[in-house]
Amino acid sequence: MDYVKLYSELLAAEIDGVLSSYEIERLIEKPKFLHQGDLAFPCFQLAKTMRKPPVEIAKEISARLQSRAVGSIERFEPVGAYINAFLNKTEVAKDLLYEIRQKKNHYGDLDIGENQTVTIDLSSPNIAKPFSMGHLRSTVIGNSLSLLYEKCGYKTVKINHLGDWGTQFGKLITAYKLWGKEEKVKENPIQELLALYITFHEAAESQLELEQEGRDWFRRLENGDAEALKLWKWFKDESLKEFKKIYDLMGIEFDSYAGEAFYNDKMEPIVEMLRERGLLEDSDGAQVVKLDDTELPPCLIKKSDGATLYATRDLAAALYRFEEYSFVKSIYVVGNEQTLHFKQLKAVLTKMDLPWADGITHVPFGMMLKDGKKMSTRKGKVVLLEGVLKDSIQLAEKNIEEKNPSLANKTDIAKMVGTGAIVFHDLKNFRMNDIEFVLEEMLKVEGETGPYVQYTNARAQSLLKKGGFEDTNGDDNLAAVAEWPVITELQSFPYIIERAIERNDPSQIAKYVLNLSKAFNKYYGEVRILGDDTEKNARLQLVHAVSIVLEEGLRMLGIKAPKEM
Ligand code: ARG
Repeated sequence: MDYVKLYSELLAAEIDGVLSSYEIERLIEKPKFLHQGDLAFPCFQLAKTMRKPPVEIAKEISARLQSRAVGSIERFEPVGAYINAFLNKTEVAKDLLYEIRQKKNHYGDLDIGENQTVTIDLSSPNIAKPFSMGHLRSTVIGNSLSLLYEKCGYKTVKINHLGDWGTQFGKLITAYKLWGKEEKVKENPIQELLALYITFHEAAESQLELEQEGRDWFRRLENGDAEALKLWKWFKDESLKEFKKIYDLMGIEFDSYAGEAFYNDKMEPIVEMLRERGLLEDSDGAQVVKLDDTELPPCLIKKSDGATLYATRDLAAALYRFEEYSFVKSIYVVGNEQTLHFKQLKAVLTKMDLPWADGITHVPFGMMLKDGKKMSTRKGKVVLLEGVLKDSIQLAEKNIEEKNPSLANKTDIAKMVGTGAIVFHDLKNFRMNDIEFVLEEMLKVEGETGPYVQYTNARAQSLLKKGGFEDTNGDDNLAAVAEWPVITELQSFPYIIERAIERNDPSQIAKYVLNLSKAFNKYYGEVRILGDDTEKNARLQLVHAVSIVLEEGLRMLGIKAPKEM
């Protein structure tokens, strides 16, 4: 039940069209203190039409409203220039718990998407290079956004735009032919290919002909030379095998792996469209689109030697995605260091007068730091992500071994907790913030962590079990005084979903599940939930609702909720 709406309608009827119920809805606030009621309406905007001071108006209208009291809104009171409404806690709790227990994991679903399609470009690591923390952030944020859009009724297409093309592959082939060993690459593809790449750059400082050789191999690759293609494909397959280990650990799947190379034969049409529209200009032999009117530097489309670029492939990809999926929105979850690139991409498509250019949405994020510095792959100091995830899982397993050694399915649960900790840590801060990576902190059950939320849910599950709760138990009455903070949290879930999707911001949900957990744990500390009085069953219904919402909230973040831990 939407009490804000209900209150707005009651008020609108009382003030006789001075403001519409929709306008009133936007003005309603939460009172500062709990004892001042649940919903507050400020009377300032009525003063002009009603020609009275707002404080007077508040007094007058709240007296009149009393006759309109309904079951769930039982009392009205003037507080300064506000009219505060008091909800009937028992009624509200009963309605809400009924709704949540009926809808289960569909509680909070919205239908704003109406089956329209959103494409989400996420993860998108580079072949033959380590999967970076940035790629992990993109994977985690993108996956959560996709779940969020689905909850709001959209269809989503998750696209892994692999970095599998570019001059670096010419260099890599050169290096492999000079120094590579098949066995070593097979054993440790990413590390070995990265080492070859680094060796190439070191050697090229003194052996100048290497750069040329690299270019030659790339040209051969572009021209479809069998040997070049075979090596490239092999590097790609080996890299993908490694990346998939990470995706498997995290339980993430993609709808498409069409990466940069996929667009090799799809760039001419968009370049032609640019030419037809007179947007392509010559600049020292290179082809560019000038973006002066948007105060952006020109977007380079073709180099003077005719080679295409990252941006050219992204233009082709954008067009392909629109033709293939007719998206209403096309999201790119990519670090904020690429903001200029995506501004240019959108500006070029807008200049082309493509109506769908409006839907191009860059969702940027900040860096992952270790001891205040970027976690980087340079200088041979590679942080291999698969290792990071495995460390986390191992640490989670150790914690279980210490605290709950008799737990069944320890390995599965450690996996849920270990990966959940990393994902939650990433999502609990607004994505633009840089975040510090401290594994021990992320796994603490006492902090603002994923395991804390998972543990809260497991606690709820254990109460249900101990209390012999059955889902079919009818709806009972609660005085809902001690429960009230939990009830109000539960109530706000649908609004949180709305806010999260409006801002493409999963941290809204992460913060929400933390707040709900805190409220519930406080309640757990204060009230004997399993105590044998008349409200026991109603309390268990509340516990049940809390668990439903926690599990659904965690699911939206891409985190599993073990029933026991
Ligand atoms: N592979 C790129 C990188 O690692 C990210 C690609 C993002 N997606 C895109 N359509 N440009 O930096």
